[in-house]
Amino acid sequence: MTQAEIRPADSTPVAHWVHQLKRSALQDMLVLVSQPGVLSFALGLPAAELFPAEAYARAMAQVLTTDPRALQYGPPFQSLKTHITALMKQRGVLCSEAQVFLTSGAQQGLSLLVRLLLNPGGVVLTETLTYTGFQQVLEPFQPRVVTVPTDPATGMEIDQVEARLARGPRPALLYAMSDGHNPLGVSLSPGKRRQLVDLARRYQVPIIEDDPYGFLQYESSSTPPLRALDDQWVFYVGSFSKILAPALRVGWLIVPESLVPALETIKEASDINMAPLTQRAIVAYLDTGHLAGHLEKLRGEYRARRDAMLSALRQHFPPQASWHTPASGMFIWVELPEGMQAGKLLERAIETERIAFLPGQAFGMHDDAWARRCLRLNFSNSRPEQILEGIARLGRLLAEF
Ligand SMILES: Cc1ncc(COP(=O)(O)O)c(C=O)c1O
Repeated sequence: MTQAEIRPADSTPVAHWVHQLKRSALQDMLVLVSQPGVLSFALGLPAAELFPAEAYARAMAQVLTTDPRALQYGPPFQSLKTHITALMKQRGVLCSEAQVFLTSGAQQGLSLLVRLLLNPGGVVLTETLTYTGFQQVLEPFQPRVVTVPTDPATGMEIDQVEARLARGPRPALLYAMSDGHNPLGVSLSPGKRRQLVDLARRYQVPIIEDDPYGFLQYESSSTPPLRALDDQWVFYVGSFSKILAPALRVGWLIVPESLVPALETIKEASDINMAPLTQRAIVAYLDTGHLAGHLEKLRGEYRARRDAMLSALRQHFPPQASWHTPASGMFIWVELPEGMQAGKLLERAIETERIAFLPGQAFGMHDDAWARRCLRLNFSNSRPEQILEGIARLGRLLAEF
């Protein structure tokens, strides 16, 4: 579909911002990679064969047969909040159930927080390359977006954040991904986490910490999220999408308790409430205590897939290409040699090899020359042998370039 096709007919008087809507590269890709025979490194999909489908089916059946409230309208389920506080404690975050706010996935969490914090035309501080779902959430507000670059090895350039904040004006919010950054794969170094939180406090800027990948850690040690350092200026966004299944559409926020009533009303306008059936089924699943083992399995499997991709890249990509080892998440960010274009490589890869990935520019807040020769590769959704084969084929194409 071309950009023009997304525009409503001229005769329909839609809001001004709708005229500037762009098609989402990710949605287009979802259609493409659903075609049979396409090997996809394109999207942030978890491995479907690892979903705990049987255990979840048992939990669902139990809820449906024993709990008549599961199919009724209902308020957020307290027991789910209890489980989430326990989960967060494992990541080094202490919070009360009153600070946990349930959402329909991290995506809705982002949307609610932006609606809570941002005025139309307000200022937002974020990275030059960032999660496209966050960019979409901003669109109705037509904000002034101020960006800072990200070091692929250590994360967001905090010195530049400081320079921006010192220069003013004060942003309504700062958006950050501390672990398994999408698209760069990087996790913020401990020193940068402290610096960033100090700046948020000093300049009184709320940080939206988007952390759907934080439970997927592949190294022996990991650093607690920003929320562990501050409970006033860091608004945490979590999700079951990458650790249980995205189809559940359940995530959570951890916010100061005083903001919960406003968030409740904003959410009510959007979808009334969380799906009671899903909340109760997740609780029934979590009550069995299976999650810890499931997370171990996911980490082990995704680590193996990450390592298979790193080893294939070393073997098949040109020596001038570079990348870093992601400690968390689902993506490896690859920088191609000068003069190469990831978009052109993608066209050829799909046409001749039926392999998909996303070119770096898909994540640019603005057009970015460096991102044009970078690619984001997902490693969670293909088995190691598929990864080895796919990267070898991409490497052959690159050699022809
Ligand atoms: C950085 C980031 N934030 C949020 C989301 C949305 O997650 P959810 O499925 O929980 O809405 C994604 C999904 O890929 C993501 O990568």
